[in-house]
Amino acid sequence: MDTTVLVIGGTGAMGRPIVRSLMSGPDRKVRILTRDPEGRHAAALKRAGGGRVEAVQGNLDDEASLATAMSGVGAVFCNTDFFSTANPRREYEQGLRALRTAKAAGVGHFIWSSLDDAGALTDGRLPVPHYDAKAAVASWIGLMRSEEFMQQDAGGWFSKNVTTLVTGPYFENLQAGLVQAASLADGRQGQRFNIAIGSGRWPMIALDDIAWFAKHLFDHPDEWRGRTLRVLSEALTGPEIAAAFERVTGIAAEFHDVPLDSVRAIPAVGHDLANMFQFFQEYDLIGRERAPSTWLPAGLRDAAEPGRRAG
Ligand SMILES: NC(=O)c1ccc[n+]([C@@H]2O[C@H](COP(=O)([O-])OP(=O)(O)OC[C@H]3O[C@@H](n4cnc5c(N)ncnc54)[C@H](OP(=O)(O)O)[C@@H]3O)[C@@H](O)[C@H]2O)c1
Repeated sequence: MDTTVLVIGGTGAMGRPIVRSLMSGPDRKVRILTRDPEGRHAAALKRAGGGRVEAVQGNLDDEASLATAMSGVGAVFCNTDFFSTANPRREYEQGLRALRTAKAAGVGHFIWSSLDDAGALTDGRLPVPHYDAKAAVASWIGLMRSEEFMQQDAGGWFSKNVTTLVTGPYFENLQAGLVQAASLADGRQGQRFNIAIGSGRWPMIALDDIAWFAKHLFDHPDEWRGRTLRVLSEALTGPEIAAAFERVTGIAAEFHDVPLDSVRAIPAVGHDLANMFQFFQEYDLIGRERAPSTWLPAGLRDAAEPGRRAG
């Protein structure tokens, strides 16, 4: 098993549970790449890691810092942050840079954190830059595998060492920004879920479940190197989200369909986010666009009852 895992994006919302999950076993060490090793999240993870977590200074734009951070690590998890630049070409280049550096460092297992290719799935109609840039990196991984295959390179690094993990919106988004206390239409006081999902389904996965899958991939490298795993837990309509919240918490709730134009008005990234919501309004990722899951771990299968899924 890999002994040290570098988590790029380890101080972020997705990365922090992954770091904690990797530390749940006795053997691993985790190195976090961060622009600020003394920052709040890096410090908390180091404290919790009791000497098995270190934070190293680095930047996805700086290849030398990536090479230093990858020196001596067996595995890498890489989640790039579109929103820190709002530039899809730059996110794409960050992904390629991380992969090239990992290959040169001889990293044994690299997990690329991706999202669905909205632009391709909608035949170019709905580009969603923060999805498409990650999917473009996943496509580039595929291109490298194709080249290795053409050259009959049985030990090709992209074919033998890289896994793509395709996720989706966090359940936790519902706690931040998408809900507010309000007087509801029926006169009760409660919570209003403001989601621009129309009559479509909002796909979700919990951060702890993404972390579970990431650890699973690292724990079973021989099964997953060279493959893609797509994970989502649930896709609910707006009324279903409000009803599930009310059922589980006992707090009155309703759904408010936010017009796409209101999302579009958000500075800098509104048009990206509006297209994402429109993509979900028109494309049911769990129901149609993704192949039905043929693989579900026992732990998640057991947990997949309505209160747990939508709670
Ligand atoms: N929100 C969702 O529902 C969702 C779902 C799936 C995927 N995503 C994707 O997740 C990404 C954001 O990650 P997050 O949700 O964990 O957000 P976050 O909490 O804002 O964390 C961003 C992370 O990216 C790191 N980072 C940013 N720029 C960097 C750079 N130039 N070099 C190295 N590290 C850099 C930050 O590290 P430091 O600040 O410590 O340097 C931090 O760890 C986005 O690309 C988004 O598309 C989001």
